[in-house]
Amino acid sequence: MRKVINDLWNTLEDYRQLKTYGYRCDNREYYIPETAVAHDPRSITLAQVGDNGPDSFEKIANEIMQCKKCRLCSGRKNSVPGTGVLNPFVMVIGEGPGAEEDSQGLPFVGAAGQYLDKWLNAISLDRATNCFIGNIVKCRPPGNRDPQFDEIEQCIVFLKRQIALLKPKAILTVGRIASSIITAQENGIGKLRGKIYNYEGIPVVVTYHPSAVLRDRSYRAAVWEDLKILRKKLDEIT
Ligand code: URA
Repeated sequence: MRKVINDLWNTLEDYRQLKTYGYRCDNREYYIPETAVAHDPRSITLAQVGDNGPDSFEKIANEIMQCKKCRLCSGRKNSVPGTGVLNPFVMVIGEGPGAEEDSQGLPFVGAAGQYLDKWLNAISLDRATNCFIGNIVKCRPPGNRDPQFDEIEQCIVFLKRQIALLKPKAILTVGRIASSIITAQENGIGKLRGKIYNYEGIPVVVTYHPSAVLRDRSYRAAVWEDLKILRKKLDEIT
């Protein structure tokens, strides 16, 4: 049964890629989305990722830059380990680098990133002094498609090591992919947002992806509510 569903999923995914990009991005076997939650990438705990001896941001970044564990390495100009400060108030987690991020090797530097900076500034946060900005996958998925489950599965350990090392006071996930991976809930943002989750003792606030809000301004009020939830939580715990 699983094979039939996976085959069907693969066929639909082929069709989607052909329709969206005019070509198939790769030759991988796709997975049904449910699998992402069934094989919860959180099954490796922060304590386990910290078991490999002393870690450092440079060590993790070097491993990311040399990483060839999934197909995304073949299309990258630069991998994007993330940027920000140690012990940030907030670690922002997006889904993966886009074209501009791939060119510069930095996260959220395109239009969505500039918009994200405005959100952060509105609640007295910024990437230079009190935040860390990262992504679920560190290399750009071709054609800006969603990262696939096996790519996430290979890459997530880097994010976990970063969380274990940086020890953010809170996490803000932006967009469906980052939010569903970090909360281990499969719902869309509309259902997930509005409450605080817990990621191994770290409070997590979920909101829309800035690109989605740039496309549909009606999400702005919800984002502002979410940012206020985050600010209130930070004021309580810092
Ligand atoms: N979108 C993301 O999710 N991450 C980036 O770094 C840029 C755009």
